[in-house]
Amino acid sequence: MKILIFGASGRVGEILSAAARANGHELLTPSHAECDMERPASVGEYVLCHDMVSLVVNCAAISQVESCQENPLRAHVVNAMSPAAMALACRHTGARFIHLSTDYVLDGRRPGLKQTHARCKPVNIYGMSKVEAERQVTENNAEALILRVSWVCGNPHKPSFVEHVLAQALRGEKLFAAADQDSLPTHAQDIARVILSPQLEGVSGVLQVTSCGEPMTRYSGARIALEHACMVGALSQMPHVEPQRVCNMDRFRAPRPAHTAMDNGDLLALGVSMPDARVCIDRAVDDYLRYIRG
Ligand SMILES: NC(=O)c1ccc[n+]([C@@H]2O[C@H](COP(=O)([O-])OP(=O)(O)OC[C@H]3O[C@@H](n4cnc5c(N)ncnc54)[C@H](OP(=O)(O)O)[C@@H]3O)[C@@H](O)[C@H]2O)c1
Repeated sequence: MKILIFGASGRVGEILSAAARANGHELLTPSHAECDMERPASVGEYVLCHDMVSLVVNCAAISQVESCQENPLRAHVVNAMSPAAMALACRHTGARFIHLSTDYVLDGRRPGLKQTHARCKPVNIYGMSKVEAERQVTENNAEALILRVSWVCGNPHKPSFVEHVLAQALRGEKLFAAADQDSLPTHAQDIARVILSPQLEGVSGVLQVTSCGEPMTRYSGARIALEHACMVGALSQMPHVEPQRVCNMDRFRAPRPAHTAMDNGDLLALGVSMPDARVCIDRAVDDYLRYIRG
């Protein structure tokens, strides 16, 4: 199958591209420079010009919450208007469209696992731009599939909180992690597997793609990662992790939703398995250790 992937240089896009190539698919992976999502009309044109493609996957976004907060217009154009243009163009070419969204579309006021139909009331610009994308993609292309993912880990080239805390621990640095915000991690390899899985053919609407388990804080996630690193001998002893409140974390200038762990029952019901959150983190640790050891 010929697949067009936007954002192939990103955390998810890189892993998806490798998995798709390994499965024998032919890829088209325009770079940021070749197809700038700040120009939605040209993004739509790009899709229309490549009408031999069977599947278009959008992994591109401004995914840094602070960047979105600093430039809301740019966030809206890249995160919402360009995906809307892709969805519309796919409707014309007949290609299937899969778009990545986030748990940050949820307001996250109440603890517990959130269902797909839970109220979307984002607390920051990033979340607002992604809700708008969900709305416009669905409106422009009723057959599009939107995958909400959360706390993506598992790409050693593009470290996330699991890889960061491990790298800091290996350097002997002081460790801090938020203890008052919970969600569930998603391994990038699992996202790629879901996107390429035959069980999702013909499925449309919103699906929540995350590991299984109870909501966990980054503090708990960091401890799981470090315990595993100790168990496999990468660390000689369990380092101390200082629990922090999100509001006291200087680098977090935009508000964060508190409780955004998503229920993945709809995905499991389609016959797609997802690992437990602990397994997901352990795998990300193993992947990172393999990467840094060459
Ligand atoms: N990372 C997470 O924890 C997380 C959590 C929930 C949801 N998500 C969602 O999952 C998806 C993938 O996230 P990710 O972590 O893989 O993101 P990422 O690592 O930040 O990658 C973003 C990709 O988008 C491209 N991009 C950014 N601005 C662009 C523009 N103006 N024109 C063209 N390309 C542009 C980047 O290209 P360059 O690098 O060349 O600029 C990069 O390939 C996103 O939709 C994100 O919202 C991520």
